[in-house]
Amino acid sequence: MKVLFLNGPNLNLLGQREPGIYGRATLADIEAGVRKRAKPHKAKVDFRQSNHEGELVTWIQEAKGKFDVIVLNAAALTHTSVALRDAIAAVGIPTIEIHLSNTSARESFRQKSLIAPVCVGQIAGFGANSYYLAVDAAVSVNEK
Ligand code: DQA
Repeated sequence: MKVLFLNGPNLNLLGQREPGIYGRATLADIEAGVRKRAKPHKAKVDFRQSNHEGELVTWIQEAKGKFDVIVLNAAALTHTSVALRDAIAAVGIPTIEIHLSNTSARESFRQKSLIAPVCVGQIAGFGANSYYLAVDAAVSVNEK
């Protein structure tokens, strides 16, 4: 089983970026934790980050036929990107939306996700644990 983890804008700054909201773990720390969690499942993980919407769209398109599940923290693009939503719908790979923070409990502009309707489900509000829970969710989605 192959899982593609994609991270959107500003997530490269985790660890120093608003730690009260996003925690002290860096994206590299989280990647290491994801790989550890994936190991017993024998799941292969590819873990990427981009600040560019188009690059994320390209990665989603290229995932067709190569990955079984996508785990996406689209960051701010969650709330704005029709292009990401269309890419997910186009490739038809089961996609899990994740967030470190509980976006439903934050500013009103974060309460709307344009990608949610084309994802199989959401995990939000558990900090770095949202990523680790997503490994388990990806395994269960793939077993369906
Ligand atoms: C985020 C939530 C988004 O609203 C925000 O723009 C981010 C991070 C999260 O993981 O909590 O950059 O996706």
